[in-house]
Amino acid sequence: MDEAQVRHELTADGSSTLFSEAFGVSYHSVHGAVQESEHVFIEAGLKEAIKNKSHLRLLEVGLGTGLNALLTWKRLSELDVQIDYTALEAFPISLEDAKLLNYSAFSLPAKPDDLIVLPWEQPIALSERFTFTKVRANWPDYQCSQGFDLIYYDAFAPNAQPELWQNEALSRSAQLLNQGGIWVSYCAKGDVRRTLQSLGLEVERLPGPPFKRHMLRARKA
Ligand SMILES: C[S@@+](CC[C@H](N)C(=O)[O-])C[C@H]1O[C@@H](n2cnc3c(N)ncnc32)[C@H](O)[C@@H]1O
Repeated sequence: MDEAQVRHELTADGSSTLFSEAFGVSYHSVHGAVQESEHVFIEAGLKEAIKNKSHLRLLEVGLGTGLNALLTWKRLSELDVQIDYTALEAFPISLEDAKLLNYSAFSLPAKPDDLIVLPWEQPIALSERFTFTKVRANWPDYQCSQGFDLIYYDAFAPNAQPELWQNEALSRSAQLLNQGGIWVSYCAKGDVRRTLQSLGLEVERLPGPPFKRHMLRARKA
């Protein structure tokens, strides 16, 4: 598994993103990286999943820049919950690229490079209530004996990585969800929605972040 070849871009809310040379797509919406992550993963995912919970096991498919992890950790200051965050990545970004991201302007609890230098496969308590584990794995081959309460499904878009939005990869998500667990993604494709439904998940099409009509949230009943 190789290191990601990327170039840097600035999105409309002033936050950085990366453009993947291998996949030909950006890591975030060009209309606002922080805005998109907040809307899709924090507001629609995390806030829904923590209802009636004191402990949350969270899986992210595609750590990328670490922005979703940093925003989740930041949001913990307002929440009464313990989070075990596992982030999968097959093509990690380099330390040099992580250092060039401008997320320190967004009052985050740490910088992307603080996450990038962490060892793989070792749970690290980054704060009293936030334990973070980076796993170098190729989704959907990832094996784990414990389920998750929330999955941030943040692979590259279906036009770039169609196999990660088809039955095998999505059914792995469904298998890894605990009862009542939530899967959330920026993607709103009809095929993806129907595949999730065929796997027995309850799927909602929610308003998307700016300039995107919809996004998906699914729940294991
Ligand atoms: C849309 S970006 C993720 C953005 C990220 N969540 C963030 O906050 O910056 C997609 C990520 O998925 C990773 N990825 C692509 N294919 C993968 C696979 N098969 N298994 C694990 N990670 C993968 C890419 O390397 C990239 O980092």
